[in-house]
Amino acid sequence: MKQSPADADWMAVAIALSQRGRPVSAPNPNVGCLIVNDGKIHGRGWTQAGGRPHAEAMALAAAGDAARGATVYASLEPCAHASPRGPCCTDALIGAGVARVVVAAQDPDPRTDGRGIARLRGAGIEVVTGVLPTEARAAMAPWWTRQTAARPYVTLKLATSLDGCIAMRDGSSRWVTGEHARAHGHLERARHQAILVGRGTLAVDDPKLDVRLPGLEARSPKRLLLTRGIAPPGWSAVGSPEAIDGIDSVLVEGGAGAASAFLAADRVDRLLLYRAPILIGGGKPALGDIGLTGLADAHGRWRLADSRLLGSDRLDVYERVREG
Ligand SMILES: NC(=O)c1ccc[n+]([C@@H]2O[C@H](COP(=O)([O-])OP(=O)(O)OC[C@H]3O[C@@H](n4cnc5c(N)ncnc54)[C@H](OP(=O)(O)O)[C@@H]3O)[C@@H](O)[C@H]2O)c1
Repeated sequence: MKQSPADADWMAVAIALSQRGRPVSAPNPNVGCLIVNDGKIHGRGWTQAGGRPHAEAMALAAAGDAARGATVYASLEPCAHASPRGPCCTDALIGAGVARVVVAAQDPDPRTDGRGIARLRGAGIEVVTGVLPTEARAAMAPWWTRQTAARPYVTLKLATSLDGCIAMRDGSSRWVTGEHARAHGHLERARHQAILVGRGTLAVDDPKLDVRLPGLEARSPKRLLLTRGIAPPGWSAVGSPEAIDGIDSVLVEGGAGAASAFLAADRVDRLLLYRAPILIGGGKPALGDIGLTGLADAHGRWRLADSRLLGSDRLDVYERVREG
């Protein structure tokens, strides 16, 4: 049951593959899988659109006979529950005669939750667990959040000037950031199931919120409007930050009222802060009241996860620090 020195490297590849299923694998987890025999990759898989085939099934199909005696790297414990949509991966791996299965994270779905690992071991297969679990969970954060906290994973995007404005005093905000930052924003859209703006932004900007990157046009997410009123055609109304149902990943694109509402409800898991090297002065501030009672409450909530230059703009990515 020992971890080999190469296990973390192979698992990092499986986790990278898992990102290909995000967000199209919903409602199933975006899993990545690699089948390695004699130091060579024989099969690669990731959960397909709509959730089937699973990553393991795709990798087994690619590996064919080379799966016999191989090591399988799975970013999530192989499923142990039968479904009318396909066979369970644990049985498929046993049937293929694999020798070893390395798992990053145990499946929190109560239908599997350790049963997949136990069944593989019961069939005489060596199982190693806990290889890069934090990275694997982060790669499937939307599904993981839905499973363990019964709410969507929310990313808040803000594009500001150096002095923290999201728009001029008259509300105009096209454009605060440059073309590289905006292209990155479009990539983020393609990674989410839905985009949300507040009714104020719809009124001022009438944004399309589509993905305008070559080849990714079909990945334009569903459009949500934060409003206590009614949404126009093409939009779905959301009455409060807590009221989003049946969606695992939401990108909140402002404006200040919507951003503040999500922060005040503590519904933001990840913050994308695009900052342009401009000063506006007297413009529209990025946020209103977010419900803090003192400065001490503001500290310790956010951890810098990434920082990079996009053209002349800076992107800082922060993650919400949560207990447990
Ligand atoms: N630079 C950027 O990143 C960026 C991005 C987007 C927008 N902007 C700019 O931001 C400005 C618009 O911002 P804004 O603050 O005026 O408007 P907003 O945040 O887009 O929308 C405010 C509206 O959201 C709804 N709302 C807010 N909190 C709510 C809650 N808790 N529950 C239900 N509904 C809620 C309300 O709609 P109802 O009144 O219908 O109930 C409220 O009037 C524009 O100038 C736009 O150009 C900048």
